[in-house]
Amino acid sequence: MLKRKDLLGLKDLTVEELEEILSTAEQMRKILDQNVKKTPHLQGKSVATLFYENSTRTRTSFETAAKIMGANTSSISAQTSSVTKGETLIDTGKNLDALLTDVIIVRHSMSGAPHLLAKNVKASVINAGDGTNEHPTQALLDIYTMKEKFGSLNGLKVVIAGDIKHSRVARSNIWGLNKLGACVTVCAPKTLLPSCIDEMGVSVSYNLDDCIRDANVVMGLRLQLERQQAGLFPSVAEYNAYYGINSSRLMRADGNAILLHPGPVNRGLELSSDVADGEQSYILRQVTNGVAVRMAVLFLLTRPKEK
Ligand code: CP
Repeated sequence: MLKRKDLLGLKDLTVEELEEILSTAEQMRKILDQNVKKTPHLQGKSVATLFYENSTRTRTSFETAAKIMGANTSSISAQTSSVTKGETLIDTGKNLDALLTDVIIVRHSMSGAPHLLAKNVKASVINAGDGTNEHPTQALLDIYTMKEKFGSLNGLKVVIAGDIKHSRVARSNIWGLNKLGACVTVCAPKTLLPSCIDEMGVSVSYNLDDCIRDANVVMGLRLQLERQQAGLFPSVAEYNAYYGINSSRLMRADGNAILLHPGPVNRGLELSSDVADGEQSYILRQVTNGVAVRMAVLFLLTRPKEK
């Protein structure tokens, strides 16, 4: 049973904790499917989003989840808050504690920032993406979408293609998928793989045409040009030619394979538009499942803890 104060990553979650989140998300997804717009799960709770980086999906999804469950929500952006006047992350967090906030959902460009915040505040902290480290609720919604489609993760062939080096989504997926028995292959040019990749329990491929063969799940990743130094690949056209996911590549995967992408998608770069909008694309399904997963995480972290 999930008894933690915070959700900071999937690396240190147990299989039982992962399964509890996924099964709770299934109940939350049923609520969404019934078009229920208000539940009492978070009545009387205050949830704040504290984003030091831009977001469309994660922030809106958390706010939607919290509002459906009856929480009071507030939204703080680094660009429009007292952070611009020099306030530290810890001071901001302590002020949110003083405002009786129960949950702080934080996104930060520095890996480890949510961990620092969690140590210094009474509120539960949820990591909504920290640097290149982890994005746990994104991976949970990815895994939920795979489980919804295939029933079990055990033995599922998952190819994660693209900018692995800078991807917190890839890291969280690798930790979670490995624990649940999936067979993960990462595919990228050597310059877009982290140096520790051999210790992460995945297969490594440099050839997308080869490793996509028979995959059940193909996950494209955004090329994170904002986190890269120049010269990691010759040109975006060349990157697209070797690592872009298009219909002829996707046809090599299993006939029942699904295409995932965390968004935002760089159309024509890591994904062609025909596959992004095609029948195998579960990208928008991921977004709806994200609300269910975040409802589950908010509920599990805020319910009274058994001793
Ligand atoms: N997947 C994801 O984190 O998207 P946003 O940056 O829009 O939140």
